[in-house]
This record gives sequence, structure tokens and C-alpha cells, in this order.
Amino acid sequence: MTVAIAPGKIILLGEHGVVYGKPALSIAISLKASVSIEKSDQFLVNAHLINERRDTYIKKAIDMFWDGEPLSVTTFSHIPSASGLGSSAAITTATIAALLALKGIRSREEIAKKAFEVEYAVQGMASPNDTSTCTNGKGIIVWSEKKDGYIWKITKNNNTWFIYPFDVPDIKIIVGFTGIKSKTGMMVKKVKKFVEHSSFARELLDEMASLVMQGLDAIKKNDMVELGRIMNSDHKILRTLGASSEKIEKMIGEALKNGAYGAKLTGAGGGGSVIAIGDDESEERIYRAMKKVGKDAYIVTPDIEGVKVWD
Ligand code: MEV
Repeated sequence: MTVAIAPGKIILLGEHGVVYGKPALSIAISLKASVSIEKSDQFLVNAHLINERRDTYIKKAIDMFWDGEPLSVTTFSHIPSASGLGSSAAITTATIAALLALKGIRSREEIAKKAFEVEYAVQGMASPNDTSTCTNGKGIIVWSEKKDGYIWKITKNNNTWFIYPFDVPDIKIIVGFTGIKSKTGMMVKKVKKFVEHSSFARELLDEMASLVMQGLDAIKKNDMVELGRIMNSDHKILRTLGASSEKIEKMIGEALKNGAYGAKLTGAGGGGSVIAIGDDESEERIYRAMKKVGKDAYIVTPDIEGVKVWD
């Protein structure tokens, strides 16, 4: 049996912009998903015949990158599905990591590239942000600008993204899940319409890019108050781009009322999750407030390992 475990992720700053090559800053988190694969006489997922609707990402990964004998796949996840926390990216990354391990391949770059191909094929439009973060762990910047220090680059349809790791301070992030499932592909298309037809929306994406760089600076200085201010500004842009929702706004309001330095939607939006940062004193309060308004809440820490495989 081959087992792969991959972390989920939060996007601290820059979602949606990253689809257009703008920088995004993400952190792999302590909520994880695992995939176990063994040879079988039929293609099974969690003991049922594989099903395109239910097992979309796993089926796509197998269709695209496996031509061997039938497999039985078992999944286990602590990441709520369609929550904006990288549940599908983690399952996809773990599936690809296990499939490649069965072929004797263990390169993280290969895993990240193929996992992105799967996400792209399912969602119709995507950046490699989520799959590269789940593959590498730690903090990740995904950007179309080439600088020193990138760990891999990914090209698709004339777009190239460079993937840069960064060390994350030991921050605690409070995540609130709205309970409303959100489809990334649909939200990306919604924002795309706006971006294609409005120069104002494109200006907002430039502004967002500059916030991401300021946010990176604040992280390096361990200045959480400044990072919170930047998160609030980033969220305002995401709201203007149409990525927020009533429930998201309500949860953000609760987090800020309870002492968060900053709060914003994370991931594609529309539903999904909200993230907030606070201090030792406010963290528990923010957590409880978000849990009360939303479906669930988690205090997460950065994952530093990325995807791991055992066979
Ligand atoms: C989704 O987690 C992040 C988006 O930027 C889409 C993507 O990068 O593929 C909204």
C-alpha cells in the first residue's frame, strides 16, 4: 500500500489575482488529507466503484496519469470539502504523489506540476497556487515575475508562474468555515468576467499585488498589526470583485469585533472560509465568535513538511 498525506492551505493575500500572474501569498496548514492506494481488481474509491461526480479529482488524476492496473483508493480528510482551505488541492496532490510513487517517482516538482494539470482540467481555469502550496508546505509565493530563489516554475497557455518558498513565523491563524460550499471554478469565472470587461477591476488587481508585497514585508518583520491592516484592505478589493458573501461579511465583522488585527475571505470566496489573525489574548475569543456565526472554526498553524509519501 502507498500512502500520501498533504496539507491544506490558506491564502493570506492575493487570491484571484494569482490566476492573472499577480503574486499571492499562501501558507500550508495543519489540517491535512491522506490518500492510500493499493492494487485491486476494480477502480474503487472508499470501497465504491470510482464515480466521476463524487470522485472528480481522483478520477481525473487516474485518467491523466495512471495507465496501470486497477487501484483501490481510500481517502481521509480533516479539511472540510469546498471550504476554500485546499481540500481538493490536498486530495489531488496526495493522489498524484501516491500514483507517482507507485511508478518510482518522488520529485516534488513533478507532483506539483501534475497536480496542477488535474486541477486545471477539472476547474477550467486555475493557478498553480493551491497545488504547489500543498506540495511544498511552508509559505509559498506564486508569481509570474522571475526572481532568484524559485523552486519550480509552471507554464500553461502562455502563462508562467514561478513558485517561491518563504519561512512563515509561528503565527496562529483562526479559520472560520461559513458552511457554504463554494466551487472554485465558478468563482474564478465570475471574477474573470469583471476583470475582462473593466479596467477598474484590473487596477484593483494591481493594487492587490502591491498589498501582497507589503504583506510579505510585514511577515518578515513579524508585524501582525500591519499584516492585519493589509488583510483588511485586500478583502475590500475581493469584495469589490464580487468574491464575498453575506455570511463571509458577517464572520469577518465578528472576528474584527472580537479583536482580530485583520480578517478576510480565503480562497475563491462565494462561501468557503474566512481567516483572521489576532494575538494570544484575542485568539480564543475570535475562534468562539466565528464558530458561533459559521459552521465551524479552527485554529491552524503552518505546516512545514508538505506532501509526504510512504510505501
Ligand atoms: C483558490 O484557492 C484560489 C484562486 O486564486 C484560484 C486559483 O488560484 O486557482 C481563487
